[in-house]
Amino acid sequence: MEGGNFTVTPWEVTGEIDYDLLIEKFGTKRIDAELLSRLASYGPLHPMLRRGIVYSQRDMEWLLNLYDKGQQFALYTGRGPSGHTHLGHLMPWIFTKYLQDTFHAPLYFQMTDDEKFLFKDDLSQEDTLRNTYDNALDVIALGFDPKITKIIVDTKCIKTLYPLALKVAKKVTFSTTKAVFGFDNSTNIGSIFFTSIQSAPAFLPSELEKHNVPVLIPCGIDQDPHFRVTRDVAESLGYYKPALIHSKMFPGLSGSDKMSSSVPETTIFTTDSAKQLKKKIGNAFTGGAVSAEEQRKTGGKPEVCAVFKYQFYLFESDDAKVDSLAERCRKGEILCGECKKLLSDRLILFLEEHQRKREEAKSKLDDFMMKVD
Ligand code: TYM
Repeated sequence: MEGGNFTVTPWEVTGEIDYDLLIEKFGTKRIDAELLSRLASYGPLHPMLRRGIVYSQRDMEWLLNLYDKGQQFALYTGRGPSGHTHLGHLMPWIFTKYLQDTFHAPLYFQMTDDEKFLFKDDLSQEDTLRNTYDNALDVIALGFDPKITKIIVDTKCIKTLYPLALKVAKKVTFSTTKAVFGFDNSTNIGSIFFTSIQSAPAFLPSELEKHNVPVLIPCGIDQDPHFRVTRDVAESLGYYKPALIHSKMFPGLSGSDKMSSSVPETTIFTTDSAKQLKKKIGNAFTGGAVSAEEQRKTGGKPEVCAVFKYQFYLFESDDAKVDSLAERCRKGEILCGECKKLLSDRLILFLEEHQRKREEAKSKLDDFMMKVD
């Protein structure tokens, strides 16, 4: 979708995103106070919900109505293994973990190694498969329950996915993919077909359980176009439409709207060392005044500051503390250097712990992988 000064598609997010306009253009629903209070009745609300970071949805009320009547839903999310995992990818996965814990829901996690081979000129099939197993360590490190979590690697599980993808593909025309994804006659034919592979896991739980299973897809709002296609064909194939819950995009350190692997200097990867991390945060955009003296007088602008946004989006779950940080910044009581140090210290601890869990995950990979006979 292109609008105002921004573009949001599953493969490109640029500019300053107007999230309200996205709701309107994509035709999703805002997560309103009523839904928030309903969600709070299942367990403590996640900070991403309280703060409007997870902000949009499709058919959540329907899904919860079925859940209340005793029908368990499955979760489905994924990753296109284009390189190392960054903090932006972790955001919807951390939220997915909260959903799994709160609703005891099984999770199907798709690794689209085929997608990244098709869409990225510089990646070989060996590269995307290597990235797949590397990224899977990050997923496992977040603590998903191995008994109810399956990672689907597209090229390894294609025998399971293909019959479902075919059903979808038969219902989707080239003209739909052009309209939804902006493809044209020069797009390779694998890319045109690909959305049917990303649809398949939405119907997989129903196939495996041999009755219709509701599915909830937590993801960044950039992935929604795929699932508009999935939802459009679902009922004609005899399945439920998947419900969705969308997050905003985690910003890059330059203050841009989306952290993205293509700009490594402003992206924090889960594999970064403490030294790399300190350097990146040291160079982060804060929007602070030219001198400390000036800033003490005029105060800072937390709403544009990448360092503040990181605390707000992911790292400070205490609302009172995050509010007080913003307040002290506005009053010029805390300066950018101190804020950067607070964030670096916190992130070094987070990454050390995450990297330790990634190491442990190496011996658990096999338990999480979906097997195909
Ligand atoms: P990918 O690898 O681009 O992204 C994986 C997940 O991370 C989200 N994401 C972000 N969220 C917040 N801030 C960011 N800066 C940021 N960058 C990425 C994405 O929205 C996504 O949820 N084709 C997909 C893989 C996939 C998938 C799925 C994703 C397959 N099936 C089902 C979600 C749901 C992809 O390339 O994602």
